[in-house]
Amino acid sequence: MTEAVIRIDKVTGGYGDLTILHGVDMTVPAASWTTIIGANGAGKSTLLKAIAGIVRCRSGSMQFEGRDVTALDSLARLKGGIGLVPQGRCNFPLLSVAENLKLGAFTRKLAAADLEVELQQVTARFPRLRERWHTMAGNLSGGEQQVMEMAMVLLAKPRLLLLDEPSLGLSPQAMGMVFDTIRELTASGLSVLMVEQNARQALECCDYGVVMELGRSKLFDRAPDVLAHPEIRRLFLGL
Ligand SMILES: Nc1ncnc2c1ncn2[C@@H]1O[C@H](COP(=O)(O)OP(=O)(O)OP(=O)(O)O)[C@@H](O)[C@H]1O
Ligand SMILES: [Mg+2]
Repeated sequence: MTEAVIRIDKVTGGYGDLTILHGVDMTVPAASWTTIIGANGAGKSTLLKAIAGIVRCRSGSMQFEGRDVTALDSLARLKGGIGLVPQGRCNFPLLSVAENLKLGAFTRKLAAADLEVELQQVTARFPRLRERWHTMAGNLSGGEQQVMEMAMVLLAKPRLLLLDEPSLGLSPQAMGMVFDTIRELTASGLSVLMVEQNARQALECCDYGVVMELGRSKLFDRAPDVLAHPEIRRLFLGL
């Protein structure tokens, strides 16, 4: 396997007294695209939140680019290069698209001119956002909000991008565009760890697949091998 962007070692965690992650072990290869699949409630979103520092690790550890980040909070992890696009709709529905995107870059304290250049770059990638520049984010369609959230997190310049169901509510065409964008991003060196319900489509595009079950990672393999696995085809891919 190539170099790892993050190593997750026996991580447990959850909400209040509830334990959801029961000792997750996972190594995510750098500059590649890894997809986590699994049943509803398996703990996929909780794992992404634990990597982003939103859910605390109760035990176990996480090494990001060889550095122990287990004790870092979510802001420190964002500044350090871990960006999460959470599941569901946007966080600031009353702010415009422009304001949301500027917020995305806030940790980097860019000079106005540099921020403008980066906004140009991100809207060149996602032209629809420029068309909707002054629209309140809450008035965007579900798919447009997904794209805006992704653009917003990219403006924080993460080296590990965590995406929680980026295709939720997207048309097949829009999903294809998002997947094409992810492929371009990994080609330029970004590492992507994504959770996706459209398991087959995702595994046909990405590099590695992880199957989560009951708060543990049950299997990690190259995506074509996950797709070919008889039990996984039956249980998760409807094949
Ligand atoms: N904020 C929370 N407080 C308490 N319990 C939570 C919270 N968020 C999630 N849970 C519980 O944790 C478990 C795992 O949830 P999680 O969101 O990680 O699952 P998931 O694998 O992402 O599922 P889905 O495919 O439905 O998105 C569920 O039983 C859920 O009810
Ligand atoms: Mg989820």
